[in-house]
This record gives sequence, C-alpha cells and structure tokens, in this order.
Amino acid sequence: MSFTIRDGLTFDDVLLVPQHNSKVKSRGADVDISVKWGNLHFAHPVIPANMKTIIGPEMVFATMASGGLAILHRFIPIEEQLAIAEDAIDHFDNKHFAASLGVKPEDLVNAKKFMGIGVKIFCIDIAHGDSEQCIDTIKKLNEINPAVIIIAGNVATGAGARRLWEAGANIVKVGVGPGSLCTTRIETGNGVPQLTALIDVAETQQQLIEAYKIKDKELYPGSVTARHFPFISDGGIKNAGDIIKALCFADMVMVGNVFAGCEETPGQIMSIDGRTFKEYVGSSTHKTNHIEGVAAIVPTKGRFKDILTKLLEGLRSGCSYQGVTNLQDLKDNPEFIKITHAALKESHPHDVVLR
Ligand code: XMP
Repeated sequence: MSFTIRDGLTFDDVLLVPQHNSKVKSRGADVDISVKWGNLHFAHPVIPANMKTIIGPEMVFATMASGGLAILHRFIPIEEQLAIAEDAIDHFDNKHFAASLGVKPEDLVNAKKFMGIGVKIFCIDIAHGDSEQCIDTIKKLNEINPAVIIIAGNVATGAGARRLWEAGANIVKVGVGPGSLCTTRIETGNGVPQLTALIDVAETQQQLIEAYKIKDKELYPGSVTARHFPFISDGGIKNAGDIIKALCFADMVMVGNVFAGCEETPGQIMSIDGRTFKEYVGSSTHKTNHIEGVAAIVPTKGRFKDILTKLLEGLRSGCSYQGVTNLQDLKDNPEFIKITHAALKESHPHDVVLR
C-alpha cells in the first residue's frame, strides 16, 4: 500500500504577506466589509455562534442591530425559540435572522412553525454534516418551501461541501473540530485543520462556479448569472487576524469564544476570587449520546458592540495591508507564508512585561 499524507494548516501556521496599497486611504471609509448573497445583504461578515451560551434574545437583537446575521441556537424549547424569533422579526428585517435545525423529523415540524412567523433562513448543523441525514433534511426542507435559504454543515472537505450544495444547501458551514471547546479531534481522531479545510472547500467552490457557468449557459442561453456557492468558516477564530485569513476563502465567519462572556450572552455572571466570569459550554454537552465538547468559564468582557467594532477595525486594517477595498477582492490570489513556532512567538508581544 502506498499513500501520501497531506500537511494540514491552521490560522496560526500562516501569515498574509502585505501587498502594495494604492486604494485604501482611510480604513474606515474606503474598505467595504459588507457581504451580499443574492438578495441577502449583511453589514459585516461576523456571525455569533449558534450556541446556548452565546446567542439568546439579547445577542439576537445586538447582532441584528449591527446589520449582521443572527442564528438562534436550538437548545431551548421550540416555544421559547419562536417567541425570540417573533420578537426579533417584529423589530428587524427577517433576512437577518435564522433558526437552527437538527436532522430529526421533529426539526422539520419546527421549521414549518418558524416559516409560519416569517423566518426565511435556516441553519441545519450537526457534528458530521457530510451525512445522508443532513442531505435528506436539506432536500425535505426545500420540498416544504423552495424559497427558504439553507445554511448546512458542518463539513471539513471540499467533497463534503459539494454534496451539501448539490443537495440544495445555499450556504455551507465548514469546521470539524477547530472550536475552542471542541474535543472531536481528540475523542474521535477526526478533523481537518481549519485553514486547510477552507482551502479545500474554496477549490471545490471554484470548480463548481466554472462547471455551473457552462451548465447554466446551456440551460439558459444569454444568461449572465454566475452561481456563487458561499460558505462560512466556523470555529477556531481567536482574533481579527484569524478572521481575515479565513475570509481569504470563506464568505463569513462564525465566532463563539471571542464573544463568550460579553454582556449580551445568556447566563449568570459568577464571581471567583474577585474576578467575574460567565459560562461557555460546548453544544454537544447538551446531548447525552455523544460528547465531543467541554464546559468552561470565560472572563466577562464588556459589550458585544465594542468587541465587534474592534474585530471589524482589525479586518479593515487587514484589508488595507492587502491593498483591497472589499472582501471579494481579498479572495483574489492572497499570498500566504507558512511560519515557524519562532515566527509565531515573534508575532505576539514578546520580551516585555505586559501591564
Ligand atoms: P470557537 O472557537 O469560536 O468555536 O469557540 C465555536 C464553534 O465550535 C463548535 N462547537 C462544538 N464543536 N463540540 C464540538 O466539536 C462541541 O461541543 C461544540 N460546541 C460548539 C461550533 O461549530 C461553534 O460554532
């Protein structure tokens, strides 16, 4: 038997090489970080993770107020989820709200209830999204209402993403095991380092775009619409630097840890030795059959808006170092350099005592 083993890379293994900047004079005014998917339009690409300790009613409001996409989690009774959704949609555009679904028959029953109150976007996510159960749920949801927008995942390969797109998912979510609370890779030995997973999916995305251009030309002569096949990078984001690296491939990022402990997240504040903390708990710990995550606490860290603003400032600065004025251009042949442990050490503050 002969086989090759590929290298797997993640965010800290690489840096973006700065490029000549001739376009960005003011990072605030000249860099457009909005995201457009068909008739969906988001002011920024950062989605709080659809986890119980990240997104409850307050976080849904804060996210929608920021112009982002709020994906409510599914680990509370459906009546509570519907009440939160209804309230949110009364105040904001329903194109900025999504409900989460699993792959059980009752999830389709819940989907119909959400549709009844005007929810248009659904996020089907299970630990191993490259599965027949997920494909089946995507198809059934599309049968119930072909107009809904389906985010589906999580996958870690281009082939897996392709299966979900071709089953009818509009947007695929990528990430198996990169999350800060995940133990999937340790408990099961499975996963793909996140940057490599994103590159793999982006390559498949390009192949599909080209293939469908040809197919669509045959089907609809004269048509100029190019299909896009967007995807979200989910898990492992620690800072704005990781976000910009992810967005060289993905269209949006899902972020848990960075928002964990902020004021708007659900959960009680606890005081330990004079410092305050909030719970941050892996989604798989709400289930009893397989546990591939941990429960933790994180220090409290102020308002969502302030954390988001700082991340988006970093993202805009990152774009100016790349000489690009929007997120689409960021994907145009980014130049990465693989770095060593010594270089990573050099990247962080070093040889100083932090105050
Ligand atoms: P970060 O790194 O932002 O990651 O905290 C958030 C993402 O982690 C995933 N997640 C889990 N993965 N077991 C897992 O393997 C879990 O219990 C678990 N809970 C959350 C999820 O994709 C989330 O968006």
